[in-house]
Amino acid sequence: MILVTGGAGFIGANFVLDWLAGSAEPILNVDKLTYAGNLGTLKSLKDDARHVFVRADICDRAAMDALLAQHKPRAVLHFAAESHVDRSIHGPADFVQTNVVGTFTLLEATRMYWSALPEAEKQAFRFLHVSTDEVFGSLSATDPQFSETTPYAPNSPYSATKAGSDHLVRAYHHTYGLPVLTTNCSNNYGPYQFPEKLIPLMIANALAGKPLPVYGDGQNVRDWLYVGDHCSAIREVLARGALGETYNVGGWNEKKNLEVVHTLCDLLDRAKPKSSGSYRDQITYVTDRPGHDRRYAIDARKLERELGWKPAETFETGLAKTVQWYLDNQAWADEVASGEYRKWVETNYAQRA
Ligand code: NAD
Ligand code: TYD
Repeated sequence: MILVTGGAGFIGANFVLDWLAGSAEPILNVDKLTYAGNLGTLKSLKDDARHVFVRADICDRAAMDALLAQHKPRAVLHFAAESHVDRSIHGPADFVQTNVVGTFTLLEATRMYWSALPEAEKQAFRFLHVSTDEVFGSLSATDPQFSETTPYAPNSPYSATKAGSDHLVRAYHHTYGLPVLTTNCSNNYGPYQFPEKLIPLMIANALAGKPLPVYGDGQNVRDWLYVGDHCSAIREVLARGALGETYNVGGWNEKKNLEVVHTLCDLLDRAKPKSSGSYRDQITYVTDRPGHDRRYAIDARKLERELGWKPAETFETGLAKTVQWYLDNQAWADEVASGEYRKWVETNYAQRA
């Protein structure tokens, strides 16, 4: 089996669902179930013996040792993280704990487990670390895209702690020979994304008749990838990636935030027209994020050249699917928008003029 951490979050759960749709190999899903973890996302697997869910914290060394010893995975795929930049600005401590200390703890437990494996299993074992393009910092409008050799220059507590985890993963390969792989992916969107992130937040607010809060001038650029394409890239890297290598994952979809919000409004205007006017009328400009990175953009040529991976969705097809998914699954969105979520909205948006 494979062990997935953070498999109740947005990308981890999409990965688990996609994996089990295409493979007989079971998954041990280890997740702390923070505010971002939601078992409702995995309810279609309730009676599926191939999915074993364990609530545990990756910072808990004894729990990680016991799970590895009991389930004997052939690979660890590490998605678990604190993942939201705005939250990292309000409360960086959880990010240091999970992203740095948690990754370190998981690496140590994995190293002990891996070192004791019989030689053939040791050779075949993989530790795949799921990371972000935000570790490379911010680009100007004319800079070339991030490649695998772009120097690290993280700017937020989120990206700094992800960079720290990437360095630890690299060091465990260099020092101990642990068979690691790292992916650095651009912004994901798609089903089951927590509505604190741009795209699901804008869809939820639009449908609720609330303001659509665009930070600063709305001209910041992100490079968007449909989550299913990120999952297919991870499967390729796991199967055929070269040990110790890093792979940038992106969809060649650079968009300004305002363009994204306009496109969402236009899709909603068609799918669920308002009684009068357009969803665009709800757009409001609010105080910018401190240290807001201007532009992210991924050069994904290495992954295409070496492993033949290409995204299946364009931004247009992926976004249309995503909007339809949120329209069809409002019960899921209502369920995750719990008391804790309302508190976060108050914390993040109340002081933004
Ligand atoms: P998410 O916040 O939706 O989910 C994170 C999951 O990790 C949740 O289920 C949470 O309960 C779990 N978790 C948090 N702390 C934990 C701990 N200490 N022990 C065990 N489980 C814990 O995040 P996501 O958007 O699905 O991101 C998954 C990974 O992909 C992260 O490592 C993130 O840095 C990376 N990534 C995300 C994006 C993106 O656009 N969302 C892009 C590139 C890379
Ligand atoms: P986000 O989804 O938080 O991802 P990240 O910061 O990791 O790229 O934000 C994407 C972009 O959208 C980012 O430039 C910040 C902006 N944004 C807004 O303009 N308004 C919002 O309410 C949010 C959550 C984000």
